[in-house]
Amino acid sequence: TMVRHNWTVDYMFSAPDCVEKLIIAANGQYPSPPIFAVEGDTIVIEVTNHIPTEGIVFHWHGIYQKGTPYYDGAAYVSQCPINPGETFTYKFKVDRAGTYFYHGHFGMQRSAGLYGSLIVTLPDHKKEPFSYDGEHRLLLNDWWHKSIYEQELGLNSVPFRFVGEPQSLLIEGRGKYNCSLLPESTASPPGCLTCNASSPWCAPHVIPVTPGETYRLRIASVASLSTLNFILENHKMTVVMADGHYVKPFDVYNLDIYSGQTYDVLFTANQDTSKNYWAAINVRGRNPLTPTGLAVIQYLPNPATLLPTTSAPVSPVWNDTATSLNFAKKLLAKPGYEPPPPKKCDRTLVLLGTQNEINGNVKWAVNNISYVHNATPTIAALKYKIKGVNNPVPPPDFPAESYNIFAPPSPPSATYGTPVYVFEKDDIVDVIVQNANTMTPNVSEIHPWHLHGHDFWVLGYGDGLYNASRDPASFNLVDPPLRNTVAVFPYGWVAFRYVADNPGAWPFHCHVESHFHMGMGTVFAEGVRHIPKLPLQTLGCGLTKKHL
Ligand code: C2O
Ligand code: CU
Repeated sequence: TMVRHNWTVDYMFSAPDCVEKLIIAANGQYPSPPIFAVEGDTIVIEVTNHIPTEGIVFHWHGIYQKGTPYYDGAAYVSQCPINPGETFTYKFKVDRAGTYFYHGHFGMQRSAGLYGSLIVTLPDHKKEPFSYDGEHRLLLNDWWHKSIYEQELGLNSVPFRFVGEPQSLLIEGRGKYNCSLLPESTASPPGCLTCNASSPWCAPHVIPVTPGETYRLRIASVASLSTLNFILENHKMTVVMADGHYVKPFDVYNLDIYSGQTYDVLFTANQDTSKNYWAAINVRGRNPLTPTGLAVIQYLPNPATLLPTTSAPVSPVWNDTATSLNFAKKLLAKPGYEPPPPKKCDRTLVLLGTQNEINGNVKWAVNNISYVHNATPTIAALKYKIKGVNNPVPPPDFPAESYNIFAPPSPPSATYGTPVYVFEKDDIVDVIVQNANTMTPNVSEIHPWHLHGHDFWVLGYGDGLYNASRDPASFNLVDPPLRNTVAVFPYGWVAFRYVADNPGAWPFHCHVESHFHMGMGTVFAEGVRHIPKLPLQTLGCGLTKKHL
């Protein structure tokens, strides 16, 4: 079946946390419209860019795009941006049921609020290996009051101006900024619409439940910066899926979700029915300066306005990495439902992510190359063998051996580039992502790494420097979870394996919006000879003109 949508994308004023600002949205909705489809369906989205001065693209995060790599929606990798006034039609198949989402993938448009849910359900003749009575979607994110244009300029400025910690955390696009945090000098807070004594709360998102019933929560994080810790007050959750793949069910009271990841969890409304409860998100992995994001679990028939009298749920302390790692290691594929990985790999990459400086600009780099877009999309450069677009010298498979991951880079320099790692079709690839010290002594950040066009088996995590002769022995080749986004922890490494069976050019990048914008990404290409003909509507920019 075809699932059709018609979207007009434009700027709009919105106040999701009670403070009004400019956002980008489809059809005047924030979050943008949810897409519902059944496994095997074809999704057709006709997008008209109504923004007068800015191109847009949509990326369908977690969808393979087998046979349609040109509709993956990564600006300048898989297509030219959709110019103001233009209409573009995405058409692709959703081949696996699960909880997904989509988002803008040009500049920092995701941070401007351009995203929505993409829910793929099973056809009637297939059954989930768990049961529930109802379901709710929870799209999570962090939120800034400054426009993305000021944020982008700040990141590119000398001296560097960081976007800072978010002002609010939102659940299904709702939150509440704490106006008492505004500096006193701020006369009548701009657009601080409903955030005043007479209405101390913007209406939080409500999750209605019938006592005694079991619910499936489809949780997804499109956060720009923060690792989020999700809690259901007083309720135990059973984790059943991660990034659209079944895991061996296990129980938690809170869970860490990194930007780009999804979890499906079950919970039963089995608490005191005279009350409502909080669903909450807190920042982890960075010293939090942002108040808890809250939604209400409404025990019917209590009114939604019956707010819990308890204080906001508390998450594990932000720098307790051991707890995060422990949760990450509990995620194992459900046997019989997910395939195990191939036993051997054909090629191994070790990719070192570092913070660097180029001509005074703060940048992130992968094996010392800081990614910048070329005006000619990578997929077109590969398909039409256009020279001078991607770096002629292949990027290095390994970082410099002498690199000390425990100290700031010295010298802190990298080069700009548009690298492409090229693989043969069906190569089995191992990727080790190595973390390191930033330019600040004794600081190493968390990075959620996301691969387009694929899922990968997460084979293992380790502390310190990856050791190629010792560490592979510890890889889990029995029941590693399949995912599309995995976190690398401070001063650690993560290893994954995937099969390069999807001809195309696929971004592999840190899903922190500012990190990717500052160069923390690269492109994996495979089966170049098998890349299908590129639709005309995806071309037109850079050196693709003569191939129109
Ligand atoms: Cu959701 Cu390239 O990202
Ligand atoms: Cu990062």
